[in-house]
Amino acid sequence: MCGIVGYIGHREAYPIIIEGLRRLEYRGYDSAGVALFDGTDLKISKTKGKVSDLELRINEEITKTGKLGIGHTRWATHGVPNDVNSHPHISNSGSLVIIHNGIIENYESLKKELITRGYKFQSDTDTEVLINLIEEVKTKEKVKLGKAVQIALNQVVGAYAIAVFDKTRPEEVIVARLGSPLAIGIGDGEFFIASDASPFIEYTKNAIYLEDEEMAIIRFDKKIKVRKIKDDSLVDPYMQELQLNLEQIEKGGYDHFMLKEIHEQPKAIRDTFRGRLLRNEAIIKMAGIEDNMKKFLNANRIIIVACGTSWHAGLVAEYIFEDLARIPVEVEYASEFRYRNPVISENDVLIAISQSGETADTLAAIKMAKSKGAFVFGVCNVVGSSIARETDAGAYTHAGPEIGVASTKAFTTQITVLSLIALRLARAKGTISSSDFRRYLLEMELIPEKVEKALESDKHIRIVSDIYKEASNFLYLGRGFNFPVALEGALKLKEISYIHAEGYPAAEMKHGPIALIDENMPIVVIATKAEHYDKVVSNIQEIKSRKGKIIGVITEGDTVVRKLADHVIEVPDTIEALSPLLTTIPLQLLSYHIAVMLDKNVDQPRNLAKSVTVE
Ligand code: G6P
Repeated sequence: MCGIVGYIGHREAYPIIIEGLRRLEYRGYDSAGVALFDGTDLKISKTKGKVSDLELRINEEITKTGKLGIGHTRWATHGVPNDVNSHPHISNSGSLVIIHNGIIENYESLKKELITRGYKFQSDTDTEVLINLIEEVKTKEKVKLGKAVQIALNQVVGAYAIAVFDKTRPEEVIVARLGSPLAIGIGDGEFFIASDASPFIEYTKNAIYLEDEEMAIIRFDKKIKVRKIKDDSLVDPYMQELQLNLEQIEKGGYDHFMLKEIHEQPKAIRDTFRGRLLRNEAIIKMAGIEDNMKKFLNANRIIIVACGTSWHAGLVAEYIFEDLARIPVEVEYASEFRYRNPVISENDVLIAISQSGETADTLAAIKMAKSKGAFVFGVCNVVGSSIARETDAGAYTHAGPEIGVASTKAFTTQITVLSLIALRLARAKGTISSSDFRRYLLEMELIPEKVEKALESDKHIRIVSDIYKEASNFLYLGRGFNFPVALEGALKLKEISYIHAEGYPAAEMKHGPIALIDENMPIVVIATKAEHYDKVVSNIQEIKSRKGKIIGVITEGDTVVRKLADHVIEVPDTIEALSPLLTTIPLQLLSYHIAVMLDKNVDQPRNLAKSVTVE
């Protein structure tokens, strides 16, 4: 993870770097630092903590001038989060400076070698090893910085997005990437470097995304040169026009990004099916599916790989695909899948789900499945991300930037895309009647309005949150399509309030979790009208007789659970397969309000990061 940002050009670098770090803070916030060069002095300031802590420190430590600068926000891997381990790191001569997102796996052996050659190390980081390796190569081989970086990177095992400069040649910055994202914004006589395009969208709409194993030599007075790290061949980089705008990455009057993103869901879901769901013509149009229809129809099975919340969306999809399209589905944690020896054949279709499109384990699972001949389809949010590029075909979720670390609108839009795919395949296979198909399309179109309705329970959910905010444990129960929603509800609460929570299939409660139930245990039960509604009602009775506190998520107008539960939160009625899109909403709000009441950092929960580019 970690966020990196850099600038070289005619403006003062500091305001760009510090604002860029703020925008990239979702990638990690254990420590932050900047290096500025003003033509004479190299000034470095770094600290444990957040970008706001860095700003305070900088004011005491350095002058904020210089037209060349780099900055870093860290999610700690090697070395505890402290001032010394924070980036930027400098080489022993004090001349070379680096910021790094990723992990150098063979850093220990490299470090030993460098120590024998007299190098000294201040920090415990792999990054300090890399900058000294670059220095060693540069001195020994008497080469320019770009060449030294290239030779050093060819000795490195691991993942990186780096930016390096030499204070004695401040007209250039060298960047390189393998496994971690790196975007270069191209301005008029100025260049921006960042983990994603958000730090420079107000300055330029033109960007180059480096591919894996590419490096770029950026000279502010010249054109940028991109080369392959391995064989030094020149690359003609593809210049993208950015669609992102500033408004999308600001809070827009909400207290937190998470709350903004929860409320954006009606629009995000609508954006997701816009142009794809054509109700009047009774068709679903998705180029990635149409072009590869045979692959899907001939598939032995679909394997879904993902991590975190995206994995939960995959579980919902399993129910939907099997129910509607009658295709066997397996859902795997990418991190497990990639390290076992799964049986994959050319007739398997792998769907990788990822909001960021950068999750290292998901990316590795894709590469592995591709090497075994499977067809790989991506469901990503971030356009142009590594996973979007690595997959054979795909469908974007079009949720817009998601900045809150706890995923909300990414989840519901992933389910939307996956539902559209399942419906399209069901139609092609003939496993759904044309009248049912039309019914689904109509209902899908109504979902955004119904999400809006579900959001109206916000005030009531705040009251419920206040009652249970001191609980130490929560249980979340759901069945069928809503079992994964129970898992997701529990994850949301854990992530941002640090309250322990478990999600379970409601019927599994009697095989263990029931032992935990007493008068102090709040249990969120998703009990909307569905095929197994009566069974869920029985589970609620079982909880009640053990004095557990029941928060029921129910279908509007349901009086049965209303009588049994301590509190109920209503959601509008819909087709069962689409109900996760509605039942998720109150669970997001519940976790949000509890976390706010407990004074937790909702958008940046401790130890987490939004984009997990380490294994
Ligand atoms: C991190 C984030 C989660 C996310 C998961 C998978 O853990 O904190 O919110 O669900 O990564 O990320 P992806 O970008 O692949 O969906």
